[in-house]
Amino acid sequence: NFGDEEDIRTEVRSLISSLPSDTNIQGKKLCNYQGCWYYYKNLQAVLDYQKHFKPLDSDIIVTSYPKSGTTWLKALTVALLHRSEDGLQSHPLTSDSPHGLVPFLEMDLYHKSSTPDLTKLSSSPRLFSTHMPLHTLREPLKDSPCKIVYVCRNVKDVLVSLWHFRSKIGKKEAERSGLESIIESFCKGVDNYGPIWDHVLSYWKGSLEDPKHVLFMRYEDLKEEPYAQVMRLAEFLDCPFTEQEIRTGSVEKISDLCSLSSLSNLDINKTGISWNNVDHSIFFRKGEVDDWKNHLTTEMANKIDMIMDEKFQGSGLKM
Ligand code: A3P
Repeated sequence: NFGDEEDIRTEVRSLISSLPSDTNIQGKKLCNYQGCWYYYKNLQAVLDYQKHFKPLDSDIIVTSYPKSGTTWLKALTVALLHRSEDGLQSHPLTSDSPHGLVPFLEMDLYHKSSTPDLTKLSSSPRLFSTHMPLHTLREPLKDSPCKIVYVCRNVKDVLVSLWHFRSKIGKKEAERSGLESIIESFCKGVDNYGPIWDHVLSYWKGSLEDPKHVLFMRYEDLKEEPYAQVMRLAEFLDCPFTEQEIRTGSVEKISDLCSLSSLSNLDINKTGISWNNVDHSIFFRKGEVDDWKNHLTTEMANKIDMIMDEKFQGSGLKM
C-alpha cells in the first residue's frame, strides 16, 4: 500500500510533481528525493519525519536497506538493552516481534500519522528503525548524539532474499522471471529505497566520518563471529558487558536468543501479524550467507559485481 496515491496531501503532491519520477518493475510509481527512490506514500512519511521528529539524546536508530538483516539487528538491540531480564518468561522479544518493538519511522509511525505520539512508546531508550539513507535520516537529528546502527549485506543475497519475500507476500512461487526483474531493478536503481549502492555508501562514509554516532555492521560478520559483533554493538551503544556478564555467558545467551531458529520459533513470530499486515514469519527464511550461489547464474552475478566495483571504487568499501 506504500505506492497508493490516495491520502497524499496537496503540498506533497506538488513537491512530487517537481521531482524525478519513474515506475518500478511492479508498475508502482516512485519519485526520487535526495537521491533515493520512494513510493509516494513513503515519501510523505519521510517528509513528515524530517519536519516533525524531535530527537532525544538517548535515541537509538537501527537502519538498513530492506532484506539486509533488519529483523536480526532489531532483536539484538532489544536483547542487549534488556539483558537483565531473567529468562524468557517476561522478555519483550516474547511479547512482540522485533518490528513491533523497534518501529519503522517512515513505514510505520509517520505512515500512520504525520505527527505520531512518540510519548506512547514503551521502550527506554527509544528505539526506532528506518530504511532511509543517512543524509535524509540525519536532517532533523542535527547535532543530536543519538546512535545510528546500520547493517549491510552482500547485495546478491539481498536481492535473492527480496525475491523470496515478494513472492511470499504475493502468495506465489518464487519464479525465475521475478528474480530477473529484481536484478534489472537493482541495476537500474529504481526501486523503493534504491539505488542500493548509494544507500550503503551513505552509511559507510557516515561511519568513517562519525564513528561515535554511526556504526556500520555486516550481516556476514554477525554470522561468522556473533560473539565479537555483539560485544562491538554493546560497546557502541554504551552498554558494554561487565566481566561478570562475560563470565556467566551473557554474550552467548543474547546471540542464541536472537538466532534465526530461536526467534522464528517464538510463538509471537510464528503467528503474529506485522505493522504492514504481513505475517511475522515472513521475515525469517534461511538466513544464510551466499545463498545467491544457489540461484544466480554467473552472468547475473557478474553484472551486479561490475556495478558494485564501479560504484564502490575509491571508497574503501569491499563487499
Ligand atoms: P533470507 O531471505 O536470505 O533468509 P530483513 O530483516 O532486513 O527483512 O532481512 C530478512 C533476511 O534476514 C532474511 O534472509 C531472513 O531469513 C534473515 N534473518 C531474519 N532473522 C534473522 C536472524 N535472527 N539471524 C539471521 N538471519 C535472519
